[in-house]
Amino acid sequence: MTAIVAPNAGIYYTAGYWNDIPSVKAEINERISGRPDVSYLEYFAERVGRKTFGRALFLNCGNGWVERDFFKHGLIESAVGIDYSEELLAEARRHGRDLPVRYMRADINDAVFDERFDLIVNYAAAHHIAYVDRVFRNLCRHLVTGGYFVSYDYVGPHRNQYPYEQWEAVWRLNNALPREARQTLRYPHFPTMMHDDPTEAIHSELTLETFGRYFRTEEYRAAGGALAYPILTFNRALERVDSELRDEAVETIMTADRRYLADNPGTELFAFWYGTPRHEVLRDRALLRRWEEDERAREDRARAARGRYYEPTLLQAMLYPDAFPV
Ligand SMILES: C[S@@+](CC[C@H](N)C(=O)[O-])C[C@H]1O[C@@H](n2cnc3c(N)ncnc32)[C@H](O)[C@@H]1O
Repeated sequence: MTAIVAPNAGIYYTAGYWNDIPSVKAEINERISGRPDVSYLEYFAERVGRKTFGRALFLNCGNGWVERDFFKHGLIESAVGIDYSEELLAEARRHGRDLPVRYMRADINDAVFDERFDLIVNYAAAHHIAYVDRVFRNLCRHLVTGGYFVSYDYVGPHRNQYPYEQWEAVWRLNNALPREARQTLRYPHFPTMMHDDPTEAIHSELTLETFGRYFRTEEYRAAGGALAYPILTFNRALERVDSELRDEAVETIMTADRRYLADNPGTELFAFWYGTPRHEVLRDRALLRRWEEDERAREDRARAARGRYYEPTLLQAMLYPDAFPV
């Protein structure tokens, strides 16, 4: 199978994501760990009794900063990082040359592992996986009994095709900000997404459900983002205003985001969770065959439809009628 990947891996490290803002990061920490100064990683370390895992696998590791963070916190003894981008792997190798870490270049969708792991880490990786059932099944096989699979990831709508109600709430909140702090809102344009990165949020809508097939979720924390992520990410206006106005706008946005999540559970775009393998499911041959066939049929259909899995959302159809010719 030829891997479907982004033509330019540089897009993954563009500054200006919502969690690059320190107060947003603190709020996300709070939503996950209950404390603004305790990150998902530190919280996970606490929850598993601060043990050190022998061998860890880092999915779609990019430039390798996530595994270096795990080493820094003494959570792992050795690591394997997998990614498709040679350019990012070269950077990861350079920064990790003094660490017991090995990098492999492979398409995660059909990666073959010749060892088992004590820990698997998905940081902003799974939402780039097409064959999510196949990959999670493979990971279940390669995670030891007593091992953990920990994630922090985008779990929002497929290809960021937000529902109308959410986008309207985003629109209203943005318009309630002082004019000079407002985001230039653009509903994600399907053809542009496919051009820039056909793996982006390819099956984010299936991540949690598919995870649950192969892993027992021990803890799940919604990190929100339904309103704040589209308004704060790449908000160039906010970069230009003075710090007082910026802090006030961020506070307003994060307060509204918190309220929206409380009033609309399940609308979170980001989440933290971890689980343990359900090895017993690997013995149910009939069920595995059915899931495999469903997945193959879904991907074959989408390939024939040039990357289209679902009907366009109302907003995609209204705003960009040419993007989805009937
Ligand atoms: C959002 S980045 C996350 C990188 C890293 N986990 C981080 O948090 O910095 C997504 C990563 O997935 C990788 N990727 C995308 N499709 C892939 C595939 N089919 N196989 C392996 N890696 C892939 C990209 O090269 C990129 O490094």
